[in-house]
Amino acid sequence: MSVNERTYIMIKPDGVQRGLVGNIIARFEQRLVQATEAHLENHYSDLKGKPFFPGLIKYMASGPVVAMVWQGLDAVKTGRAMLGTTNPLQSPPGSIRGDFALAVGRNICHGSDSVESAEKEIKLQGVVQYTTSLETWIFE
Ligand code: TYD
Repeated sequence: MSVNERTYIMIKPDGVQRGLVGNIIARFEQRLVQATEAHLENHYSDLKGKPFFPGLIKYMASGPVVAMVWQGLDAVKTGRAMLGTTNPLQSPPGSIRGDFALAVGRNICHGSDSVESAEKEIKLQGVVQYTTSLETWIFE
């Protein structure tokens, strides 16, 4: 038994075709991972020293998060386009942050900003200690 144990969950073609993706992710959402402050400080190490850094770490450690790795052509840029900009006020309607968020400090979703960041963040996800440890690897 290990707190870093992983499982691979794949929604199969019938699940996708029947529109059950959100429903299945929602079930995992209820019992997913809570990142430690140490993990988050490493994840956001490029922002250390910014005035909002302590508040960001506190917010990010305040409850469970859902972690996903998506793979495909231009996955990083596509993910960022789907999220919108850092500040929801500047995010276009139709983007996740533009549609659902109000404040920069509560912008709902993280997405890697470069291939290098993505590699760092995914690697970090693999070694971090969680208070609970189920990870949703949608596509690895
Ligand atoms: P950053 O990496 O610049 O943005 P993004 O998440 O779009 O890649 O910042 C990380 C998070 O820090 C951001 O999602 C929200 C928070 N943040 C603030 O709370 N205040 C700020 O002024 C900025 C720039 C970011």
